[in-house]
Amino acid sequence: MSTRIAPSLLSADFLNLTDEIEMLNQSEADWIHLDIMDGVFVPNISFGFPVVSAINRIATKPLDVHLMIINPDRYIQEFKDAGAAILSVHIEACQHLHRSLESIRKAGMKAGIVLNPHTVVDSLNDSINEADMVLIMSVNPGFGGQKFIENTLNKIARLKEMILKKNLSTLIEVDGGIDISNAKRVIAAGADILVAGNAIFKADNPSEMIKLLKS
Ligand code: DX5
Ligand code: ZN
Repeated sequence: MSTRIAPSLLSADFLNLTDEIEMLNQSEADWIHLDIMDGVFVPNISFGFPVVSAINRIATKPLDVHLMIINPDRYIQEFKDAGAAILSVHIEACQHLHRSLESIRKAGMKAGIVLNPHTVVDSLNDSINEADMVLIMSVNPGFGGQKFIENTLNKIARLKEMILKKNLSTLIEVDGGIDISNAKRVIAAGADILVAGNAIFKADNPSEMIKLLKS
């Protein structure tokens, strides 16, 4: 299976979201990555339900929603109603991860677990069975345009090993600082989906960059 690309709208031009989404619709992007930040779990605030619903009205690709919020359980149904296809919660933000994943799946979405850069892959040992995807952060969450943390490559490889050992089909998504200089290594380590914000939206030709990252 070829690598999937999930452009992060955080780096898009918010005054021209319609054009940005039309561009993604026409491009080789597979998913649209939406970063939800609450100013508590991460030191930044992004956007919420009205924006996600509006995007969903014109997007023709699945919405891949990355929650960087405390108490994500409170909003699972609302994100489903807003149009999320994949909903990912941080392991560091969930008191009862098993229950959160179950609720996401029950609501009819794919469930993802997100690991911060300092969180060890082994912490997934007793929950990975309940997830469709694991999202490995390759920067500290909160902002676009940060530098890729090299140790992520070891984490991806260890996660891939865990997935194979357990005979699972869990997808590996990697998010933060991905660009043309590191995409190959991230894919070689085992990533199935690359999230990229700055690299795509700050490129002269964003849809060409999506193609490039994919190949
Ligand atoms: C960071 C977000 C990322 C971010 C990626 O907290 O989770 O999705 O938008 O942006 P780049 O690719 O610019 O690091
Ligand atoms: Zn993200």
